[in-house]
Amino acid sequence: MTRVVLHPYDVRKELAIAKPLDFNRRTQLKHVDRVFKAVLTNIVQLTEQEKLFHIRILDDAERERFSFLPGQFVMVELPGYGEVPISISSSPSSKGHIELCIRKVGVVTGLLHAARPGARVGLRGPFGTHFPLGKMRGKNVLLIAGGLGIAPLRAPIFYVTENLGEFAEVRIMYGAKRPKDLLFDYQYEQWRRIYDVGLDIIVEHPDDGWTGHVGLITELLDDIDLDPNETFAIVCGPPVMFKFVCNRLRDMGLPMQHMFVSLERRMHCGMGKCCRCNVGSTFTCIDGPVFDYWSVLNLKEAI
Ligand SMILES: Cc1cc2nc3c(=O)[nH]c(=O)nc-3n(C[C@H](O)[C@H](O)[C@H](O)COP(=O)(O)OP(=O)(O)OC[C@H]3O[C@@H](n4cnc5c(N)ncnc54)[C@H](O)[C@@H]3O)c2cc1C
Ligand code: FES
Repeated sequence: MTRVVLHPYDVRKELAIAKPLDFNRRTQLKHVDRVFKAVLTNIVQLTEQEKLFHIRILDDAERERFSFLPGQFVMVELPGYGEVPISISSSPSSKGHIELCIRKVGVVTGLLHAARPGARVGLRGPFGTHFPLGKMRGKNVLLIAGGLGIAPLRAPIFYVTENLGEFAEVRIMYGAKRPKDLLFDYQYEQWRRIYDVGLDIIVEHPDDGWTGHVGLITELLDDIDLDPNETFAIVCGPPVMFKFVCNRLRDMGLPMQHMFVSLERRMHCGMGKCCRCNVGSTFTCIDGPVFDYWSVLNLKEAI
């Protein structure tokens, strides 16, 4: 009798399936697939289009357990309307207090902008990769944002300014179209005077009262001396902006693995289940949103 040997799996995929499949993935997801009930405690109008939402998770134990790393995001749910991914904009050290800077662009963000303090929302997360600030210890750090990019950059700014002793020179560069589009202007003096970090602001279209830099954010890089091996950069903003900034930094000698960006894609689940956010075989929600620039250039159609 001929013996038929059935191979249980394709040996070429051995590594991929070395671990037993866990369709529920609870072991990996831990608490992240549950919705925290939360309340909007305060809402600050920052500009015409953006508001800052202060959020508190209702349950004491859940609030105590919630923690995140700079660069991670949450899914904000308005039951019956939808869910949106939003970067956490507050300090990772302020336990139980979450701030989200949200631009009004469509259905869910529009409804959030119409909400009043006391409104209830759902939160899932935190999700995604973070800026590797541990790697940057002892080094110079450039924190560069364009427009709404200051929202994901604010958590690393908090971390770096609260732990200044861990880093060498810290410099923040921020660019916007017009002075009235600048976000968090009430914090600039604090960053400059209290924390003594370098802060340069540039606008493309100045108004009559503007006395600062005028031009594109890349022009701020003309004034700095950069020690490529001792410097890391975090660059947040629209792809066209971070592409120009990163290419300029690369021309100045900064290795691409020393530059980190945050990629945005439309997302649905936030946890690698729905395939809504793929770039090729990479999931922006779990493999990102934070990537080093070298990886971004190697992701087809990422930018
Ligand atoms: C990881 C991540 C972090 C984000 N952080 C922030 C943040 O801190 N602050 C903030 O204001 N926004 C942030 N966004 C973008 C935000 O998620 C979208 O603006 C939001 O989902 C729009 O939802 P909506 O229902 O209001 O708009 P919709 O009614 O769904 O769409 C309105 C318009 O917005 C566009 N749009 C929708 N989703 C996205 C998206 N993900 N990226 C680009 N364009 C989109 C649509 O194409 C459409 O033109 C982030 C997105 C991701 C993926
Ligand atoms: S958002 Fe569902 S897989 Fe990334």
